Amino acid sequence: MVAHINTVAFQGVEARLVDVQVQMAPGLPAFTLVGLPDKAVAESRERVRAALTAIGLALPPKRITVNLAPADLPKEGSHYDLPIALGLLAAMEVISAETLSRYYVLGELSLDGSITAVAGVLPAAIGANAAGKGLICPESCGSEAAWASESIDILGPGTLVQLVNHFKGMQVLSRPEPGMAEEAGQLPDLSDIKGQESAKRALEVVAAGGHNLLMIGPPGSGKSMLAQRLASILPPMDAHEMLEVSMIASIAGNLTDGRISPRRPFRSPHHTASPAALIGGGIRAKPGEISLAHHGVLFLDELPEFSPRVLESLRQPLESGQTMIARANHHVTYPSRFQLIAAMNPCRCGRAGEPGHTCKRGRKCADDYQAKISGPMLDRIDLRIEVPALSAADLVLPPPRESSADVAKRVYVARDIQHQRYRSSPGSNTTNAQADGELLEKVATPDDAGLQLLREASDVMQLSARGYHRVLRVARTLADLENVENLGRIHIAEALSYRTSSLELRSAA
Ligand SMILES: Nc1ncnc2c1ncn2[C@@H]1O[C@H](COP(=O)(O)OP(=O)(O)OP(=O)(O)O)[C@@H](O)[C@H]1O
Ligand SMILES: [Mg+2]
Repeated sequence: MVAHINTVAFQGVEARLVDVQVQMAPGLPAFTLVGLPDKAVAESRERVRAALTAIGLALPPKRITVNLAPADLPKEGSHYDLPIALGLLAAMEVISAETLSRYYVLGELSLDGSITAVAGVLPAAIGANAAGKGLICPESCGSEAAWASESIDILGPGTLVQLVNHFKGMQVLSRPEPGMAEEAGQLPDLSDIKGQESAKRALEVVAAGGHNLLMIGPPGSGKSMLAQRLASILPPMDAHEMLEVSMIASIAGNLTDGRISPRRPFRSPHHTASPAALIGGGIRAKPGEISLAHHGVLFLDELPEFSPRVLESLRQPLESGQTMIARANHHVTYPSRFQLIAAMNPCRCGRAGEPGHTCKRGRKCADDYQAKISGPMLDRIDLRIEVPALSAADLVLPPPRESSADVAKRVYVARDIQHQRYRSSPGSNTTNAQADGELLEKVATPDDAGLQLLREASDVMQLSARGYHRVLRVARTLADLENVENLGRIHIAEALSYRTSSLELRSAA
């Protein structure tokens, strides 16, 4: 007899059904595992054997074959322990195979028979629900699985014994409740920042329209401070966004105690990050920082210090909102619609362009440093602003009265206008930064005076077609912040002002 248990293999955030087949046949005692298992899966034989021993069961002296079908789908991770153990228990007729066939199963086993947390429970629960099945998962992942649907049957045992007792009717496992993360403390507030009014305005625009931003300024002017405060003015995620973000976090094993949060992700990888860490991939094709920042912010501090390869690899996901990682025999796609916030100094000494300062290496200092950011990369950044050094006079001023909460209110209103606007349009965009092509033309056509200014400016500034559209998107956001429908000259003028910075002036000179 062959026992069948349903489990999953992950391809991106998608859970594909894997059939665990267990056969016990007469012959020399052996325990073989086939079906393209990776190292962690191959090792599960030992964990399963030990866990069964721990609950007082020994494997029968037979020829045991475990097959993970389909055979051509790579099986990675440690979540196959529990389905294999349950397949053995079904083959040994300890638990009814018919009952188990109503569930998808995943979990890792300890040698003492306890079931430990695994990554990817939320996508597995969504897959199980779509297939009309229930889910058996580790206890600590139960609240994560409960988000998949209100009606899905979930069993979250802490140990193998509890699960066996549940099926024997000696103990009842209750359905876990969906868990919300408690927000860890207050986010840093905008009111900590003195002066820098134009940078704060740019931050508000960026938050309202989901645009990309580059801040250029001398050391200690508050660039990192500003970026870290963006999270405090972004609107919370809606239910759909929260689920998408949590699926990626679940695959990456980043959901603590299976709790999910409405706060937008804010990822700030160090500049020594490798392409695999940033984009995704590596041995298990895990999501990278850009996917973990989906629907949130990717903050690249000290932008020119990132390796050129890493920076250039951001170009494609920045446009398409997703990342495709090619593996030896398949592709994995992760969503990565993030907002890029970057900060840099104007030159290696950090003070180029300041009145009275001359770099030791002259103009070359700034030119060489800024040349590390390629033109196409810069073209993808809607707002580029300078954050000048603060004078002592600014620093002794009392703290500003406006707090993050005040700015967040305006941002929320502007985002709501965009939601209403794009709700009926095709595609999944919800912000001005994502509006494209025909849709952009429909929602962001300036009035005559605005159009004239834009025409003149694009000749003088040599705007690319992409640059032209990006100006329109920012202008749309500026109008939305004012809650006006008409896109006027004033909006175009402010949007254009965000595209000129010392960086351009230098390259134009
Ligand atoms: N506008 C400001 N208001 C109050 N404090 C500030 C301001 N700007 C800078 N500071 C102080 O200076 C410190 C350094 O600021 P921050 O790290 O943001 O600078 P930076 O621009 O990122 O510099 P670098 O280019 O060296 O990374 C802050 O921790 C804060 O104490
Ligand atoms: Mg900094």
